[in-house]
Amino acid sequence: MGDRAHRAGRQQGRIAVVNAQAVTRLAVLISGRGSNLQAFIDACDNGKLEAQIAVVISNNPAAAGLQRAACAGIATRCIDHRNYASREAFDQSLVDELCAHSVDLVVLAGFMRILTPVLIKPFIGRLLNVHPSLLPRYPGLKTHQRALDANDAEAGATVHFVTQELDGGPPVLQARVPILPGDTAAGLAVRVAEQEHVIYPLAASWFVQGRLVLTGEGAMLDGRPVPATGVDFDAGANIAR
Ligand code: GRF
Repeated sequence: MGDRAHRAGRQQGRIAVVNAQAVTRLAVLISGRGSNLQAFIDACDNGKLEAQIAVVISNNPAAAGLQRAACAGIATRCIDHRNYASREAFDQSLVDELCAHSVDLVVLAGFMRILTPVLIKPFIGRLLNVHPSLLPRYPGLKTHQRALDANDAEAGATVHFVTQELDGGPPVLQARVPILPGDTAAGLAVRVAEQEHVIYPLAASWFVQGRLVLTGEGAMLDGRPVPATGVDFDAGANIAR
């Protein structure tokens, strides 16, 4: 990111100025299987996302994603919400852990907790989520079944900035998935998840590159306002990926 300090180093008597920018430090918050986490691990490994996952935090000790992180050599923490008397106390514990890891960007990846201002305020503009619907349609749960019940022609996924409004923060990027004859919620969820795994690391890369920011006017990409439902992934083929 532009405002991050450059580092200088000195090696064996000769001056070696290292102008490498500090790597953006991510935290991935999960509650379950962690397929989006895996997409972030892969994107960091293959260079599509120039960032380091500093820590993976789960509120659920049984989350399979914790294993994925451990296998990838990433620090993991379990902060079990059941050990806290209030949402605020739980969120403060998250904030403490995020600060201890000097996190620049927090990505919610199937993190099944409603957040309070205790977490949202210090990380506003640095907090992303992926939601399995074409927001603003179907905030909340059971999104695939609701799209089927409504006889929608398409479903999809949306990456958005997190604000206090549940699944209601400014959209960044959206991928559409056609609903096929005879589709089930489970089958549709698989195809939507495939798109999540593409668009979520991509949106994060825009943030890392300093191209994506949240302003008082909403989400901005490359200095221009993001459309109300986010950049359309299919139509956005001209946007550098
Ligand atoms: C995804 O469908 C995401 O859209 C939603 O929770 C699910 C998480 O799946 N927020 P995974 O744990 O990343 O596999």
